[in-house]
Amino acid sequence: MNKIETIHAQEILDSRGNPTVMVTVVLANGVTATSCVPSGASTGSREAVELRDGDPKRYGGKGVLKAVANVNDVLAPKLKGKSPCEQGAIDRLMCELDGTENKSKLGANAMLGVSMAVCRAAAQDTKTPLYAYIRHLHGGKSDAPYIIPAPMMNVLNGGAHATNNVDFQEFMLFPVGAPTFAEALRYGAETFHTLKKLLQKRGLVTSVGDEGGFAPNLATNDEAVEVIVEAIQTAGYQPRKDIGIALDPAASEFFEDGAYVFKKSDKSRKSPDEMVELFGKWIAKYPILSLEDGMGEEDKAGWIAVTKALGKKLQLVGDDNFVTNPKIFAEGIKNGIANAILIKLNQIGTVSETLETVALAQRSGYNAVVSHRSGETEDAFIADFVVGIGTGQIKTGSLCRSERIAKYNRLLAIERELGEKAVFGGKSFANK
Ligand code: PGA
Ligand code: ZN
Repeated sequence: MNKIETIHAQEILDSRGNPTVMVTVVLANGVTATSCVPSGASTGSREAVELRDGDPKRYGGKGVLKAVANVNDVLAPKLKGKSPCEQGAIDRLMCELDGTENKSKLGANAMLGVSMAVCRAAAQDTKTPLYAYIRHLHGGKSDAPYIIPAPMMNVLNGGAHATNNVDFQEFMLFPVGAPTFAEALRYGAETFHTLKKLLQKRGLVTSVGDEGGFAPNLATNDEAVEVIVEAIQTAGYQPRKDIGIALDPAASEFFEDGAYVFKKSDKSRKSPDEMVELFGKWIAKYPILSLEDGMGEEDKAGWIAVTKALGKKLQLVGDDNFVTNPKIFAEGIKNGIANAILIKLNQIGTVSETLETVALAQRSGYNAVVSHRSGETEDAFIADFVVGIGTGQIKTGSLCRSERIAKYNRLLAIERELGEKAVFGGKSFANK
């Protein structure tokens, strides 16, 4: 096995035009691998720290030169000469060098850039596709079929991702009834274009939010679901059977003093119980298969209540409350919160710790949905990652904007490459 010769980081821009970290690892034999780190907007409060310079003279304080320097001056000299195949040891060493609980010294953005680039370098050096190498790292059986994930496609944006009057953050198409990933993508794209026409017909704007979904002003949050159902039908698909709906209200963003305040729309307040009631009504009325962050991260009682009331009926995904952190997630499992977890590598900051969280979900009977961030790059690492861990679901944005499409296009290529050795993850969901 080859050794790491150099590691170099630089400041680049993400899809929102904000600085982020790119890391390139070069091995002694010349193998070169690069990774770019994403960045969230509606972040959980206990996420690992994304180190920003805070210098108002550069990028309004959002520069990442400190994180870049931490890679180049602190991490690179310590990792030179190590084998990129020692992912666990490298990630542990970075955590030790950082020495904090939340990666606030070196920055999760610095550490994740290195962790992903090392992983990719090892895959390249062993001439293994990245998804297969990640399966090996995760201890997956090498003869089992690969699962190509069912995509959750965020076609209507609100909340912190858009400047419209919709409170809930994400309204996603979830084409679980498609026979393959390629067909799921087609179902989604056709419905997305149909939705555009429907919005135009109503005189609504079709400019897009941060994740590429439309961001119209609507009378109510309900109207967002209704227009999506109409688009599914008009595009020639059966709601629920062909295409379900997945929601991420990102409720932490509008949880204030014990109540949910619909501040972008009608300014109404709802108690946690009223929110549970609202979701109960919605799942009876609409083809909703998955609900992420229906309750705020601080509302533990609300989370327990929504899991008791609806946990047998649909997938309840914890994002802001679990932050891909194995310790925090274990606590949530103990408390009977949710039945699925959102997996974002930059919430925890290394590939190894992310795999630890995924393994905990798998052992505990929780589903795991791999996710992009609202600030993304052209790096499609998560497409390989989700195939490697085999949890069968990904959310990576709308059907436009290349930082989103890069992940979908990579999944198309993986599905084609694997042929008979791949199964589509929507199948298990569609049968439920
Ligand atoms: P973020 O949003 O990347 O802005 O945090 C995504 C999400 O809440 O799932
Ligand atoms: Zn979320």
